[in-house]
Amino acid sequence: MIDNIKVMISEEKIQKRIDELAKQISKDYEGKNVHLICILKGSVFFSCDLAKRITVPVTMDFMSVSSYGDEKVSSGRVRIVKDLDESIQGKDVLIIEDIIDSGRTLAYLIELLGTRAPNSLNICTLLDKPDRRVTDVLVKYVGFEIPDEFVVGYGLDYQQKYRNLPYVGIV
Ligand code: IMP
Ligand code: MG
Repeated sequence: MIDNIKVMISEEKIQKRIDELAKQISKDYEGKNVHLICILKGSVFFSCDLAKRITVPVTMDFMSVSSYGDEKVSSGRVRIVKDLDESIQGKDVLIIEDIIDSGRTLAYLIELLGTRAPNSLNICTLLDKPDRRVTDVLVKYVGFEIPDEFVVGYGLDYQQKYRNLPYVGIV
């Protein structure tokens, strides 16, 4: 245990669930190339582990948006810090997120990326806090639904710390 972090989802549980998600995604995208968009920095660990297990062809791009600053509560504003390198036109895009909280970040991303004419656009998130949703977003793949607690680890940070923990925990 580091700095009083209580394990909520163990490393083993996370990895097992990623196996299941990758199987489902590989089945759903059979015959296609899936273009993963990793939302930096939180979904880096999840994106890599998931991508390694997907059996259809995978391409990846990265985008960085900021909605929180260093606070625990959403500012409600979304800013693009780094845009995609490549066009998504005609691609089967799967956005990879670490966590959906208010849903504002994803609602914004879906609207923005939707204007760039992808062939399809879906969302995969490791964690979902449905109690906190203020904006409706349709999420195709969810790793775990969790209660309204601030969590860290496996990519998620508190003031940029704890991203490297192999499990998800409560500070
Ligand atoms: P939303 O726009 O409110 O859905 O916020 C999504 C973003 O907020 C995520 O991509 C995270 O970066 C951050 N976030 C939301 N909840 C947590 C949490 O419990 N721990 C760490 N980051 C969080
Ligand atoms: Mg964050």
